Amino acid sequence: MPHAIIAGTGRYLPDNILTNHDLEKMVQTSNQWIVERTGIQERRIAGKDVSASDLAVPAAKKALAAAGVAPEEVDLILVGTSTPDMFFPSTACFVQAKLGCVNAAAFDMLAACSGWVYGMSVANAFIRGGQHKTVLVIGAEVYSHILNWEDRATCVLFGDGAGAVVLKASDTADGILAANIFSDGSKSELLFAPGGGSRSRFTPELVAEKRYTLAMVGNSTFKIAVKMMADAATKAMKENNVTPADIKLVIPHQANLRIINAVAKQLGMPEEHFFSNLQKYGNTAAASIPIALDEALEQGLVAKGDLVLMVTFGGGFTWGSLLVRL
Ligand code: COA
Repeated sequence: MPHAIIAGTGRYLPDNILTNHDLEKMVQTSNQWIVERTGIQERRIAGKDVSASDLAVPAAKKALAAAGVAPEEVDLILVGTSTPDMFFPSTACFVQAKLGCVNAAAFDMLAACSGWVYGMSVANAFIRGGQHKTVLVIGAEVYSHILNWEDRATCVLFGDGAGAVVLKASDTADGILAANIFSDGSKSELLFAPGGGSRSRFTPELVAEKRYTLAMVGNSTFKIAVKMMADAATKAMKENNVTPADIKLVIPHQANLRIINAVAKQLGMPEEHFFSNLQKYGNTAAASIPIALDEALEQGLVAKGDLVLMVTFGGGFTWGSLLVRL
């Protein structure tokens, strides 16, 4: 059975920086509160006319260049996003057209912050089964478009960006060793964007009341996220008879530094083994792990042959883990 190996990575962040001090002028908050409770110092905000595919395309171009893969070679594009360009066509179809990936099927993975890990899991299954050989898996989000900028409990947490990975079929034993995804829809109302779908269609009232924006019960989400991320990480390691000491770097979803540190504690791993860049970008939802992976590779924190554990959690609830030998 072929293995899915990571052949190239890329990221794209909008230039515009919104600092905690900028937010102090917008809502009743403080730099100190945000840093102490989340670790976030600043985030990137896309222009008001920028869509998820606009961020996805430059990230994907960098990943393709790093992999030495031409657009025509790609046979599948998966975009993890919960801020799609529109309900349909999928954002992946827009990306396919903009990149000229004329031989690729394309669809989106709607699993909130877990969308990219879900995409990696689906891509892995397609590659293992022989159906696809060269897959672009992208996480791309413009959460700034679905935030309530008057709600201090949520607007300080998120940012915009995109990350991309090229997966290729290989006959080596490296690449994705575990890809686990989970969900629990019974807790959907703890983290959701309720308005604008078929259950609660767009109306002038819905827009006026900002019911299309993200709503979250932060502290319940926090506790469940820690438990599920630790469980998913443990499962990926156990399946492969791997111990925390074998892992070169854990790349967790970048939601909150306190969540990351709590997961490290539950796993009995030092915090220094966990990558974080949420200080600069906030929570970029489905884009957070591929952006972080690209930065970790660029910084030389991980290299070919290293074992990397990625673990995610998001609305749904959804969560999952990936164990990868680079
Ligand atoms: N600035 C200042 N005060 C704020 C604030 C802000 N931006 N946001 C909330 N507060 C206030 C609350 O109103 C509350 O005040 P009160 O005690 O007077 O009612 C107080 O801070 C504590 O709120 P609470 O929600 O209990 O804080 P917390 O320690 O749980 O931290 C989060 C809040 C959102 C940072 C935290 O719950 C969290 O990170 N949750 C997970 C969120 C997440 O990452 N979700 C995505 C997962 S993919």
